[in-house]
Amino acid sequence: MTITHTLPKGFLYGFATASAQIEGGGEESEKESGRGDSIWDAFCDQQGKIRDGSHVKKTCNHLEMFKEDIALMRSVGANAYRFSLSWPRIVPLGGKDDPVNQKGIDFYNNVIDECLKNGLTPFITLYHWDLPLELFKRYGGWLDKDKIVEDYTNYAELCFRAFGDRVKHWLTFNEPWCTAVLGHGFGQFAPGHKSNTEPWIVGHSQIVAHATAAKLYINKYKSEQGGTIGITLNGDWTEPFDDSPENIEAAQRKMDFAVGWFADPIYLGHYPESMVKALGDRLPKFTESDLKLLKGSSEFYGCNTYTTNTIKATRTDDEFAGYTTMDFDRPDGSLIGPESQLGWLRDVPWGFRKLLVYLYQRYKMPIYMTESGWAIKDESSLTVEEASTLLKIYLDDQGRIQYYKGYLQALKEAVEIDGVDVRSYFGFLDNFEWASGLIPRFGSVYVDYETFERTPKDSARSLMKFFKQNVPN
Ligand code: BGC
Repeated sequence: MTITHTLPKGFLYGFATASAQIEGGGEESEKESGRGDSIWDAFCDQQGKIRDGSHVKKTCNHLEMFKEDIALMRSVGANAYRFSLSWPRIVPLGGKDDPVNQKGIDFYNNVIDECLKNGLTPFITLYHWDLPLELFKRYGGWLDKDKIVEDYTNYAELCFRAFGDRVKHWLTFNEPWCTAVLGHGFGQFAPGHKSNTEPWIVGHSQIVAHATAAKLYINKYKSEQGGTIGITLNGDWTEPFDDSPENIEAAQRKMDFAVGWFADPIYLGHYPESMVKALGDRLPKFTESDLKLLKGSSEFYGCNTYTTNTIKATRTDDEFAGYTTMDFDRPDGSLIGPESQLGWLRDVPWGFRKLLVYLYQRYKMPIYMTESGWAIKDESSLTVEEASTLLKIYLDDQGRIQYYKGYLQALKEAVEIDGVDVRSYFGFLDNFEWASGLIPRFGSVYVDYETFERTPKDSARSLMKFFKQNVPN
């Protein structure tokens, strides 16, 4: 009997993390490691910013436990590991003329080598939100395009030089929308600014920084190192509430403000018309040389997606949603998917398939699925004592298994039936969930935050089993 595999040879699958979410083992070891503070350290220091008062300095202690983590990923069957480099761990003060922390370089060299030793392809994000605090103090970080582009590109080049002999998959940014909107619009993330002008500047700076660093890689390092570089954007499917022309148009406008804001300039060379019209002078303009840099600056589409929303044209003040009303309800009063621990997250696999088709048709790029995942409702409401006796509850994570089952089936259909070129899929570990602290548990691996002990949940194995069956050896 011949087995027909759905996904292409070389398909990458495993777990995704970010430096600020998993590295910290406590104040002492962080100090000892020579890492500079990031804007998240300062944010966590402020009372009331993090839901449970937890701190980036003490998360999962990956700094000391990376070997164990990598062995664990391998033992459940992963073939790749997506992680981010902490800019302030490598350049503590961040700037192009500031000193480099050799301990930081050594740490990531060890992580990369350990991945390769265990047969995991390292997939690296250069920036996952932990801006060196000093750059924010010096000139406002992403608010000063020219300065930050220079400093970011210098940091990126340092990484290409130090790690590019072994790293063949690079992401310039993780979800620039979050830095712009959550960090500078709603103020829910570091640096905690609330503004209706800053987000558009911060978004613009990140787009230009992406293009500058990526082009540097493509022009100077790619031929020798043979890797590929792109950007990862967040974006959830927007389903029109019904088939009225206003709601259909609103759903597209929401997509423009969430995905098109970054993807249209990068892949199509301009901001979406709906944003230009709505924002006027608040939306910065690209210069001729920016446009040249942007063209061909992302060699694939990196996609993080978690859910789907239903969209109505009913006007709101939410600029970041394109003035639409976002919800989960349908005309018959039903909701489009079950609840999770987080208000914004529902399980809607058919929306994932539609999103993949939309992105592939609009941007015509191979897609790397760099994140997706599920936080089971009330998964972390038990105390540590209860958890240790009732650990089974966490480990037998049926809700998460259900989510991945649906999303993986949708992925299969998008590839097999719709012909979308998808090349990776990464799930999640329990970790520091930014402003939500350690409360939501997204992971397929349970982490005891007191002892740092890890235990794979059932979903880790079922997720990897799917890929074993669907990816040819
Ligand atoms: C981020 C992750 C985060 C996840 C779940 C994504 O937007 O890239 O860092 O853990 O969402 O909240």
